[in-house]
Amino acid sequence: MKSRGLGDTTTMLFADGKGLLAMDESNPTCNKRFAALGIAQTVETRRAYRELIVTTPGLGECIGGAILYDETIRQQTRDGIPFVKVLVDAGIIPGIKVDQGAKDLAGHPSEKVTEGLDGLRDRLAEYSRLGARFAKWRAVIAIGDGRPRWGCTEANAHALARYAALCQEAGLIPILEPEVLMEGDHTLDRCFEVTEEVLREVFCQLNSQRVMLEGVILKPNMVLPGLICPHQETVDEVSDATVNCLLRAVPAAVPAIAFLSGGQSAELASARLNAMNLRFKSRLPWALAFSFSRAIQQPALEIWKGQEANVPAAQQALYHRANCNQAARRGDYSAAMEKR
Ligand code: 13P
Repeated sequence: MKSRGLGDTTTMLFADGKGLLAMDESNPTCNKRFAALGIAQTVETRRAYRELIVTTPGLGECIGGAILYDETIRQQTRDGIPFVKVLVDAGIIPGIKVDQGAKDLAGHPSEKVTEGLDGLRDRLAEYSRLGARFAKWRAVIAIGDGRPRWGCTEANAHALARYAALCQEAGLIPILEPEVLMEGDHTLDRCFEVTEEVLREVFCQLNSQRVMLEGVILKPNMVLPGLICPHQETVDEVSDATVNCLLRAVPAAVPAIAFLSGGQSAELASARLNAMNLRFKSRLPWALAFSFSRAIQQPALEIWKGQEANVPAAQQALYHRANCNQAARRGDYSAAMEKR
């Protein structure tokens, strides 16, 4: 197994307080976000938006890796430079989302299982040729009305482990994203319980599939109260619950944990990551980083609105969020950074 190469790549992804930028929205998800802002939903607008992102000046100072989507990894700038080359030249390692989406899980009403294992070995070989050095697979777990049922947790954890083993065989680092969703009125304690149970099962399945823990990256949710739960904990309370849950369930051999943002506001995501790194600095066996999509991109997307003239301002906003999250990795973020 190519453990040495995987370790070097992980070190580079998270060096100097850097983290990951998820820009791997599927076409339907990207179109939905465009539609909400009145942006045309075409191949060309998606390409132009991704060009805005990858050409953001200075992005490589704060971002060590960018997760691309199948359409995007094959695209180029208007001047004909492949996005993969633009990223590499900026010091950003390209990665790729390889799952094929969460589909209804038979026998489990309102629960999903992520598909994409069929043919994955061949797709990984192709993505590796296209320049990807790591991959991502997202599983979704909902809370509420008896969910998650055990069969859903188990099926998703099994698929994550099969995917991870194939990635390591192909020399790609697997990012494992078991996302416990924020939607609902559940409490933070319930999110803690479910997140712990899901993570334990993921690591159990990784063990069964003989996945090398030193060569994976975990991309979990933070431990949060449901979006419509009447009681919303403070930043410090969320930080403590999240880290305590991870300390229980994630082996110390895992080199890095990079959170998804999951619909939190950009500023709260930075503040919570900052609190974790500040309050637990000496107790963390893994790098505690970010792999945000919305919490890095959304302010930039809202400024861009599909207009060429707005590109520089949107790029500034994107850089700013990346920079705030880099500061949060070091425990150096403060609300004052937002007053520009
Ligand atoms: P969010 O940060 O918007 O949750 O996206 C992360 C991601 O990669 C979803 O798969």
